[in-house]
Amino acid sequence: MTRVLVTGVRGKTGLPLAELLVARQGVEVLGGSSDPSSVGIDGVHPIAFSWDEPSGWTAATDGVDAVYVVRPDRADAPALIGELLAGTSPRTQVVLLSDRDGDHPGSDYPAGWAPSVERVVRDSGRPWTVLRPGWFMQVFTDPRFYQSQIADAGELPFPGGGAEISWIDARDIAAVAERALVEDGHAGRTYQLSGPEALSLPRTAELLSAAAGHPVIHRDLTVDEAVAGTEGFERDLNVLTFERVRAGGFAEVTDTVAHVAGRPARTLREFLSANGPALRRTSR
Ligand SMILES: NC(=O)c1ccc[n+]([C@@H]2O[C@H](COP(=O)([O-])OP(=O)(O)OC[C@H]3O[C@@H](n4cnc5c(N)ncnc54)[C@H](OP(=O)(O)O)[C@@H]3O)[C@@H](O)[C@H]2O)c1
Repeated sequence: MTRVLVTGVRGKTGLPLAELLVARQGVEVLGGSSDPSSVGIDGVHPIAFSWDEPSGWTAATDGVDAVYVVRPDRADAPALIGELLAGTSPRTQVVLLSDRDGDHPGSDYPAGWAPSVERVVRDSGRPWTVLRPGWFMQVFTDPRFYQSQIADAGELPFPGGGAEISWIDARDIAAVAERALVEDGHAGRTYQLSGPEALSLPRTAELLSAAAGHPVIHRDLTVDEAVAGTEGFERDLNVLTFERVRAGGFAEVTDTVAHVAGRPARTLREFLSANGPALRRTSR
């Protein structure tokens, strides 16, 4: 039996990853959440896991063969992840959910933060795989991101600045993570992950319109407008990410999902055909 800890099991990649792992023979899945009572995934054993409660990590990692680490987007992430991994067996397969900023050439804060998280994993002495996806399609249907603006205001307020984005379905990230956690051949690899096509923001809005059943327009913002209301580390990280978006850093299309998962990455149209109802108007 292979025992796998999925941190962030309620999240966009953690949930589909847990579902894929449960469907495999011989895999026991621990679903880590700061609110384990809210984890209701068939076949998954909920377990308390919070980056704020290191005292619970020993129980969460006890006897695990593999761990999926959803990077906590906070300044002390390198230290936290280093400490978590130090408490695991040296043969534990580690898969880190990083992002495109992992390849940022800068070493100063905040540009050097994502590379420093990856470095901690590579230097952990455990077999590792790093995943670097771009923007998730699920940001359109997540109420914590753009869902209500699309559904109720009919707009996608996003500081694209004319750049394209190769949106990726989080389920395709999960499919790559699944294989990296329990199959051979992925240790020591860094995977740049994207959807199958790069789309402009106006084209993205057209596809959202068709799925929502009402007009959705792209409203271009300045980076300052887009990060209004955030502060500190969160603001610094968002500024960095949006500046990279505007420089075209999230437009690259790779074939890594197809290569690793054995099937093409899902298109935005496919994602939206299943998720259109979440984008319909709720207020009128
Ligand atoms: N979103 C993107 O487009 C994107 C792109 C590239 C990389 N990333 C990276 O991926 C990582 C995850 O980011 P994310 O924003 O997509 O987060 P997420 O995976 O959707 O969720 C992260 C955490 O939020 C809590 N959570 C999830 N669903 C919830 C819900 N319905 N209600 C309340 N809490 C919930 C969960 O922790 P608890 O169960 O402990 O509460 C979960 O582990 C970050 O490191 C991010 O930088 C994101």
